Amino acid sequence: MYDLVITNGVCVTAADVAPLDIAIQGEKIALLAPSGSLATEGARVIDAEGGYVMPGGIDCHVHLQEPSLFGKGTSSDDYESGSRSAIAGGNTTIVTFAPLVKNTSATPLSVIRDTRALADGQCYSDFSFHVLLGTASQQALQEFPQLREEGISSVKIYMTYQALQLKDGDILSVLLAARENKILTMIHAENGEVLDWLTNQLEAAKLFAPKYHSNSRPPILEAEATNRAIALSSLIADTPILLVHVSDVGATARIREAQTHGQPIMAETCPQYLFLTRDDLDKPGFEGAKCVCSPPPRDKKDQEAIWTGLENGTFAILSSDHCPFRYDDAESGKKTCITDEHPVGQFKYIPNGLPGVETRMSLAMSAGKLELTKLVQVTSTNAAKLYGLYPRKGAIIPGISDADLTIWYPGKLDLTVTNEMLHHDTDYTPYEGQKVNNWPRYTILRGQVVWDRDNGGIVGHKGYGQFIKRDAAVGIWKEDAEKFDLEAL
Ligand code: URP
Ligand code: ZN
Ligand code: ZN
Repeated sequence: MYDLVITNGVCVTAADVAPLDIAIQGEKIALLAPSGSLATEGARVIDAEGGYVMPGGIDCHVHLQEPSLFGKGTSSDDYESGSRSAIAGGNTTIVTFAPLVKNTSATPLSVIRDTRALADGQCYSDFSFHVLLGTASQQALQEFPQLREEGISSVKIYMTYQALQLKDGDILSVLLAARENKILTMIHAENGEVLDWLTNQLEAAKLFAPKYHSNSRPPILEAEATNRAIALSSLIADTPILLVHVSDVGATARIREAQTHGQPIMAETCPQYLFLTRDDLDKPGFEGAKCVCSPPPRDKKDQEAIWTGLENGTFAILSSDHCPFRYDDAESGKKTCITDEHPVGQFKYIPNGLPGVETRMSLAMSAGKLELTKLVQVTSTNAAKLYGLYPRKGAIIPGISDADLTIWYPGKLDLTVTNEMLHHDTDYTPYEGQKVNNWPRYTILRGQVVWDRDNGGIVGHKGYGQFIKRDAAVGIWKEDAEKFDLEAL
């Protein structure tokens, strides 16, 4: 007898769609067998007839319990509520950020330790961290080898936000150290100088409302920074980079061009660039603040380009960039920027970010635009590969992969997203009223059913989620890669 058998379902991986039974022993996938053949072999059996069984969702862009980094406001979700929301949305692993801002005595190792203290014992899903690296100091870069020993194989750097922004020279230093240690550098590509200048111009013209957030960060500012990031990567002998939360046509085209030339440029996009537009920032009163994130949602033509980029592989991953702030909260949420002088707020002080860890998978599945194998690639397997979780995560390989699964029943639901149905600790969702035709029926984490939509909802336990040590990315670090050579420049 196996501990758990999933019978009669259609198994979907990044490569295949096939009717297969799945047997689980303890925390691992034990066996794949012909459909129906294991129906009597499990201590517990889930009959998934008519359903799709996929590797659990992996969301590698989640902000939880971060201090105020991007202006005013603090994240509304902690590790408990954020990871609870994650499993309800079909995710089994999240990777969040351990922030290291400028001018502190903290170091990459110390922020990992501090963030681990926030997460340990609190999580419903498995978890890991990227270092959010606001400095390129020698001391910080010297810790990269120990970071790898601690199972951390990625850092995120910023080309904007005063508390975090790195100059081009600093970015080069990070890339060089990252390359030497097989650490993947995620880059937030927006030109901070230009957006500060535009913000000052908008304020001088007394344009303060949420919609002007969009005018302060036009697409060219993202495309320019994207181009610059690609140039800096090529200067350090084509060091792999991953451009995060890409939103617009121009940046997408530049990334595609670099990939076509064989450069190791990876990219991520997010549901807000598929389902929202800049018009959502122009809702009555202050409502537009609910959709203020950076880069901002763009236009319909950008949405189309982003869908195409997911289909053709320009974007390896679709993450949520879950970065929630309460809306109706003048202490630490979106309304911190409303004053007597500025009754519609002051867009430059609206905390940037949206909740979305729970809605990512359902929105992507319900849109019906991506082949099922592609959907698994962009929501799970590619993230596992790029962030060093594969094949333990993001795959269904007997004897090797954790039994992390999400089960869907297509075409059976007619659901409207409301904030009430979600499990985060945030008072709104930007997708309120959005129709979806699918929602994960079960989420299974290391052999345990943790989300049972029709029978208890959250059935997992806080603290079951584990810290997962990550390795180097699969496939991007070439043993025979050229060395960075000053004389060859
Ligand atoms: O607006 C956003 N995306 N906030 C989160 C911070 C970041 O840059 O990812
Ligand atoms: Zn960012
Ligand atoms: Zn983010």
